[in-house]
Amino acid sequence: MTVVEQKVGVVSVIYKKDHISLLDQRLLPQKMEYVQLSTLQDVWHAISRLQVRGAPAIGIAAAFGLVIWANDWKSSDFPSFLDSLRGAKSQLASSRPTAINLKWALDRVANQAEKSSSVSEAKLAMETEALKIQAEDEATCRKIGEYGLALFADEQNIMTICNAGSIATARYGTALAPFYLSKEKGWNLHIYACETRPLLQGARLTTWELQQADIDVTLITDSMAAHTMQTKGIDAVIVGCDRVARNGDIANKIGTFGLAIQAKALNIPFYVAAPLSTFDIDTATGKDIPIEERSDEEVTCIGNAQLAPLSTKVFNPAFDVTPADYITAIVTEQGIFTPNNLDKLIEQITKETVS
Ligand code: MRU
Repeated sequence: MTVVEQKVGVVSVIYKKDHISLLDQRLLPQKMEYVQLSTLQDVWHAISRLQVRGAPAIGIAAAFGLVIWANDWKSSDFPSFLDSLRGAKSQLASSRPTAINLKWALDRVANQAEKSSSVSEAKLAMETEALKIQAEDEATCRKIGEYGLALFADEQNIMTICNAGSIATARYGTALAPFYLSKEKGWNLHIYACETRPLLQGARLTTWELQQADIDVTLITDSMAAHTMQTKGIDAVIVGCDRVARNGDIANKIGTFGLAIQAKALNIPFYVAAPLSTFDIDTATGKDIPIEERSDEEVTCIGNAQLAPLSTKVFNPAFDVTPADYITAIVTEQGIFTPNNLDKLIEQITKETVS
């Protein structure tokens, strides 16, 4: 198997005015290939098929998706532009239901058009906003890395699930950002990556990213997590996040809640890394977060190999909800918060949304 080399901080979504050049995450680690997305449908498919995945990266891809759609708009009839834009926006928003960053990024870009007074003004404002979202996310992730690193110490053993790394964001990642920054400090953290069935984002992507950055990483299957915590001296668990509800419950990749329960049973701190773009002030509790269910084949097959009998009944939720009680702290770009202490943050996000 050839495993391609990643330069640290590879950019997974590149805006090119009439198309998006997108790192196809389904092909990693065997192939590092960029695909060209030229239409709204291309972007919709890329998000729903997980060619681009990870909450912030999905938001960035969707933002640019709306921009390339606008750039292709020929008429100067502004009301009909706005009308069609609303349709394009709700189509892209339907590509995946759980990560709130998708809606957040689409709202930001579309709001720029709503505030404009002509098609050409709207196109420029939308492009500027999408590029800003991408640039801000890089700075945000770096901050999350800095705050997150303060929770760890040299030579610690840390567990994670799925991939909340550089390719899932503009750069640095969220849960993996402290690991990248630990390297800059000369530390030697030992990361245990859960493989993350069914689509193996941990085995395929997290191991690859961390190896390229020369960070010590050991792969385990998801069912080995509790035993590994118990026997390998795991000091902390840190995971990414797709949505934070107002009460501090969070949704993340399926298997996260299991890790949180195990961590609590073994008295191991459980941290969630989440930018403010992942907070959803309109969702009261975890019960209100829509959980994506994906196709049976993702569970019955691995790649093209059929594992289970063809007619096997399958339940395939892509995410689960971890109640706030299980979370030691949420690491954001504005600092570290306990889930029962989110009021100020929620108030601030509410004000920013209204203004
Ligand atoms: O289905 P995926 O691969 O998009 O799920 C991704 C996750 O669950 C990540 O932990 C989350 O989006 C945070 S990425 C910085």
